[in-house]
Amino acid sequence: MAEHTVLVCTGTGCSSSHAPQIYEAFEKAIDERGLAVTVKKTGCHGFCQRGPIVVVEPEDILYCEVTVDDVPDIVTMHLAQGTPVERLFYRETDDSEPIPHYHDIPFYGNQHRIILRNCGQIDPEDIDDYLEADGYRGLEKALGMTPDEVIEEIKASGLRGRGGAGFPTGRKWRFCRDANGEPKYMICNADEGDPGAFMDRSILEADPHSVIEGLAIAAYAIGARHGYIYVREEYPLAIHRFTIARDQARERGYLGDDILGSGFSFDIEIKKGAGAFVCGEETALMASIEGKRGMPRPRPPYPAQQGVHGKPTTINNVKTLATVPAIMARGAEWYASIGSERSTGTAVFALTGKTANSGLVEVPMGTPLRSIIYDIGGGVPYGKELKAVQTGGPSGGCIPAHLADLTFDYESLVQDVYVPANYVDLPIDYETLARVGSIMGSGGMVVMDDDTCMVDVAHFFLSFTQYESCGKCPTCRIGTKKMMDLLAKIKAGRGEMSDINLLEELAITVKNGSLCGLGQTAPNPVLTTLRYFREEYVAHIRDRRCPARVCKELIWYEIDPEACIGCGKCASNCSADAITGEAKQPHVIDASKCIKCGMCFKVCPTGAVKKQTNLPGGGA
Ligand SMILES: Cc1cc2nc3c(=O)[nH]c(=O)nc-3n(C[C@H](O)[C@H](O)[C@H](O)COP(=O)(O)O)c2cc1C
Repeated sequence: MAEHTVLVCTGTGCSSSHAPQIYEAFEKAIDERGLAVTVKKTGCHGFCQRGPIVVVEPEDILYCEVTVDDVPDIVTMHLAQGTPVERLFYRETDDSEPIPHYHDIPFYGNQHRIILRNCGQIDPEDIDDYLEADGYRGLEKALGMTPDEVIEEIKASGLRGRGGAGFPTGRKWRFCRDANGEPKYMICNADEGDPGAFMDRSILEADPHSVIEGLAIAAYAIGARHGYIYVREEYPLAIHRFTIARDQARERGYLGDDILGSGFSFDIEIKKGAGAFVCGEETALMASIEGKRGMPRPRPPYPAQQGVHGKPTTINNVKTLATVPAIMARGAEWYASIGSERSTGTAVFALTGKTANSGLVEVPMGTPLRSIIYDIGGGVPYGKELKAVQTGGPSGGCIPAHLADLTFDYESLVQDVYVPANYVDLPIDYETLARVGSIMGSGGMVVMDDDTCMVDVAHFFLSFTQYESCGKCPTCRIGTKKMMDLLAKIKAGRGEMSDINLLEELAITVKNGSLCGLGQTAPNPVLTTLRYFREEYVAHIRDRRCPARVCKELIWYEIDPEACIGCGKCASNCSADAITGEAKQPHVIDASKCIKCGMCFKVCPTGAVKKQTNLPGGGA
């Protein structure tokens, strides 16, 4: 029996920092020393900011930012001599006390992991590891119940779809079970096209059996024998591990004919998508599975009535399906006791942007935004102020740090507006996010500091949705393009005050008039920035000024001759040869050559390079 288990994160993130080589180095060093240690390749541990991550059990020691060169020390000092390697422990800052234990690290200690329960804990390529973690117990239990009982259990749990809209999962299954038509199909939506989102990929890479088990339970409940997982080709590791898991599940009788002797048969086909955001929308996804161009169609008919191949179909997100086995195994009551009344259970977020700890985070629904950003995310680094948080991916809204500065009455557009004194206390659930003009989406969460220009942010997110618009409906195709043109004009300081109203009208038209969720939600970043940061639009137009000093056309760089020490760093880093000056003499920037890349600003050791924008009110 091994004395230790070494868990090496080999998710896509850590693998890009040589995790597979770290794993091999452990195997080699342990083998050479003849130690009784098991080394496991796991999927993502979630703490991507500090990867590659290595955890040593049973002591629960977490090592951060491990390199191949660190492996001999961990093997010799920790595994052979019992003294953990302190220099690799987590520290909040370079001067803070080291925290050796995984569960004491605030990033982990403040989470509640249900969906991610096995991520980083098991070897995703070994079904026995999953079985040891109570895997397939939920399926066994479900097969001992009637399909109707399974649906009632899921209904009682309050589980809502984690793919974005939050539709109650049990009700969705009921529609499909009751629908006329055979055969029925069960689909897992693993398209995950939102930039910055990596929750679903990480689950497939870390715990593919939980998704297979969820699919099998759902298929049993709705009466499907055939399932699909629709996953983008850009996720090769996820596809690889899912394929291995599916083959193992078939060998062990959890997929295929007469599963566990129950008489129920089900199998899963893997369909690879070409990476179009709109193909995550359920009707476009089904068209893509059928080999047609991935474009949405109007609903009704809903997939439950007329889905893939014209037959009743249920589509669920990866996270929804990964939750199902846990509910079946532990019971609806247990699940319903977690989270808030109307949004039960937990939510997974890909926390990114200006946060000290980026990574995958799972918290009970209703957790205050403050807790996610500060307790788990470690706050905004470099002494910067929190300005806004964008939730829900590119189609989500920007929630400001202080709603007290509300300058625009938005109630006509969003009924029942909920305005807490300070947004960071917002409980994160479907209802509250919708009230402040954002969405839960599939779980993207981007933290922004005071260096962020909100007009630029709106332009950035809209540029994604506009590019990804499939073009089928003119409202989305033309409307998002017109909005982009207006935003570009405002960013360049060429806007007129009337453009703000025009932009708003267009945004509302696109929101209300588009065929699918892409167009219906694409205006959210524009509408919320207009709602909460209207004064920034006004500054760009009236003062030709970008208050955050981001929009290139509205800024310029100057060197303060008093502060310049003539070190020449700015000149040697200037790719446009726009900076001249003698050694140890103040340098100057030729504005006609400057491409405003900001490199001089970044490299200047004395802060002599200044980023300028017009003064409030108009003057330079
Ligand atoms: C443009 C667009 C992209 C979407 N992308 C995804 C996706 O990548 N994954 C996903 O599960 N749902 C996505 N959805 C939502 C799906 O249409 C569908 O509601 C979801 O898969 C249902 O699963 P759930 O009930 O488990 O949430 C997208 C919707 C839209 C409008």
